[in-house]
Amino acid sequence: MAMTAQSLKQTGTKKPLVEVRKLKKHFQVGDQVLKAVQNLELDIYPGETLGLVGESGCGKSTAGRTMLRLYEPTEGEMLFDGKDIFRLSQSEMKKMRREMQMIFQDPYASLNPRMTIEDIIGEALDIHQLAPGSKRKERIAELLQLVGLNPEHMERFAHEFSGGQRQRIGIARALAVEPKFIICDEPISALDVSIQAQVVNLLKELQVKMGLTYLFIAHDLSMVKYISDRVLVMYLGNMVELAESDELYENPLHPYTQALMSAVPIPDPEVERNRERIVLTGDIPSPINPPSGCVFRTRCPVAMEVCASRAPEWKEVKSGHYTACHLYNDK
Ligand SMILES: Nc1ncnc2c1ncn2[C@@H]1O[C@H](COP(=O)(O)OP(=O)(O)O)[C@@H](O)[C@H]1O
Ligand SMILES: [Mg+2]
Repeated sequence: MAMTAQSLKQTGTKKPLVEVRKLKKHFQVGDQVLKAVQNLELDIYPGETLGLVGESGCGKSTAGRTMLRLYEPTEGEMLFDGKDIFRLSQSEMKKMRREMQMIFQDPYASLNPRMTIEDIIGEALDIHQLAPGSKRKERIAELLQLVGLNPEHMERFAHEFSGGQRQRIGIARALAVEPKFIICDEPISALDVSIQAQVVNLLKELQVKMGLTYLFIAHDLSMVKYISDRVLVMYLGNMVELAESDELYENPLHPYTQALMSAVPIPDPEVERNRERIVLTGDIPSPINPPSGCVFRTRCPVAMEVCASRAPEWKEVKSGHYTACHLYNDK
């Protein structure tokens, strides 16, 4: 890309494809309320990949599913191409589903093992009547080729494929409806490390070829840097930090991001041996009963008095680099 998403934003030549405003998703659990996502705000520009990172249970999948209205939101807006999808009727929503797809973490659970590849991808085509009659097989073959699978295998069952191949089938199924926006929910977490880079490279290639926009969800930072233009870090349902990838990796501001970063292995063994690791103590608190003030304070190595009494504000500390931490709020 000649222009990064950030520079596009600054020159104002493009509008975001996706705009999330004050999104909340709460679940009723017995007589208690679990606050899975609190005030999520984000923009994703056409052709951009926004990484979404945080420990397991911090609300990443819930955020993604609510954005696509697979869960009904508790509060907030999700604008796609300027339209608030939370206000669409069911039939308008059905049309909109073509534009926004999801790729799931577990390629074993997300594909029916007793369906053939032809049926799995064909089903997506049929729902939107995209390739009727004789065109159907042709289109399925084309999609398989696109994701690096042999079209001659379309009559095989999902269970006959390896994890990496299944994830390719999941990608082909998502692409079948020609979406503009794909939420990739930990698409490589269940795969062998040797296969992870192949799937990430495929996603990058497809993005350029088809002009796709991604939200790429991951629980650790190692692969996210490689695929994302910008990265948003979440903790216990809250936004912690947002910056361009390189900036976030070189200059993490929030103590939580710093701790996540110190867990990413560095390829140079000398550097790896001598560097300091930040190990977070204590368990992640429950989103049913989150800490007062800053939700990270109970595990924060530099927590101050103010952190218990007031939630920090979301501040742009440097151009395009945002964080919510009292260290950077006015003293
Ligand atoms: N359908 C649900 N009902 C109740 N609680 C849920 C539901 N889905 C997720 N949660 C809770 O919401 C929080 C966020 O979960 P999730 O979005 O899956 O996190 P992540 O994807 O970051 O691992 C967790 O505490 C989880 O237990
Ligand atoms: Mg998840």
